[in-house]
Amino acid sequence: MSMTYRKWISQKLEKLNAIDCYSAGITPEALARQIGVNPKEIVKLNFNENFFVDRAKQSELIKELADEIDLRMYPEDEEGKLREALTAYMGVPKDYLTIGNAGDELIDRIIRLFIEKGDAAVSFAPSFAIPRLCMKRLGGEYKAVPLKDDFQLDVPAMLSQFSDKTRLLYLCSPNNPTANQMKTEDVETLAKAFPGIVILDEAYGEFADYSFVPRIREFPNMIILRTFSKAFGLAMLRLGYSVSNPELAKVLTERAPLPYPVSGFSIRMGIKMLKNMDIMRTAVAALKTERGKLIETLNQIDGVQAFSSQADFILVNTQKPADEVYQKLLARGIMLKKWGNLLQYPNCFRVTVGLPEMNAKLIEALKQIQGD
Ligand SMILES: Cc1ncc(COP(=O)(O)O)c(C=O)c1O
Repeated sequence: MSMTYRKWISQKLEKLNAIDCYSAGITPEALARQIGVNPKEIVKLNFNENFFVDRAKQSELIKELADEIDLRMYPEDEEGKLREALTAYMGVPKDYLTIGNAGDELIDRIIRLFIEKGDAAVSFAPSFAIPRLCMKRLGGEYKAVPLKDDFQLDVPAMLSQFSDKTRLLYLCSPNNPTANQMKTEDVETLAKAFPGIVILDEAYGEFADYSFVPRIREFPNMIILRTFSKAFGLAMLRLGYSVSNPELAKVLTERAPLPYPVSGFSIRMGIKMLKNMDIMRTAVAALKTERGKLIETLNQIDGVQAFSSQADFILVNTQKPADEVYQKLLARGIMLKKWGNLLQYPNCFRVTVGLPEMNAKLIEALKQIQGD
């Protein structure tokens, strides 16, 4: 091995290893091993997954698909077919739609295509981490303005961050982790004043009260992100799409830049879910009912505060230190996303709305922990 290579690769690896990346944390299987229980007993409420989607019905669709598709072949016009299927659901023409490997990859794709070193993005905090990580990786700047105490946008403070270098505005609504939707007039003001691309992340759109999709024509610089991971319960398949004006959609679709960016199997499963829309609609309705009950019950526990939600998860603040609560829940096999300090709240958690039996375990555990 030449010295030149060695020097270069060691510097390169050092630089690559320093990249700030997303970490998924301990897996349910590892936790089960650690605490000596069957993995099936783990209550997984840390990833905003949708347990209300009927697995038996989903399995039926997978079996149908197994007979219909030939995995030996490259995808043909699978993306086109999904875009066609989405036109009725989204109420926009096909040329407004781009298919991607779920929200994460679309965020990465948009940032890779539109951002150059030295460009800046404006967003707010706390919010979803991926856009910040993607911007940083490209050498971009990420300015996150704190949300107001009511979790709404501080519009003047955000406007004051706009400059000649600002090329991206990332707005997450409903927001992860606060679970609220941003006021429409605030999104409108920011999007209209913004001199670059606006990503409006509606990953949790189906659980919310409104969407900007019907208004997309008013915002030529806006790309709305949607995913099959949440409401449709296809998180494992990594499938999502964006809605934007055709000029942007064309670039996002055609300059992906790989020839077959999205798995044909995932796409065909997405089409099946759209053709069997009752699966998603039933799941979302049940989840929303359970969400209301869970918020009410959590708020009845001494030392626990649960906020309202327009997503499939709830933000919770505890009186006891977040680390202590987190460890005690883990010891009982209950996984939440620990957030800790969030604006004026010191001990926050993001809690997926689980099935009633999962939530019952969480409630029982929190009662015990708060009573300790
Ligand atoms: C706000 C938000 N956007 C996007 C995503 C990405 O999800 P996916 O890549 O599964 O579509 C998530 C996932 O949790 C999210 O919370």
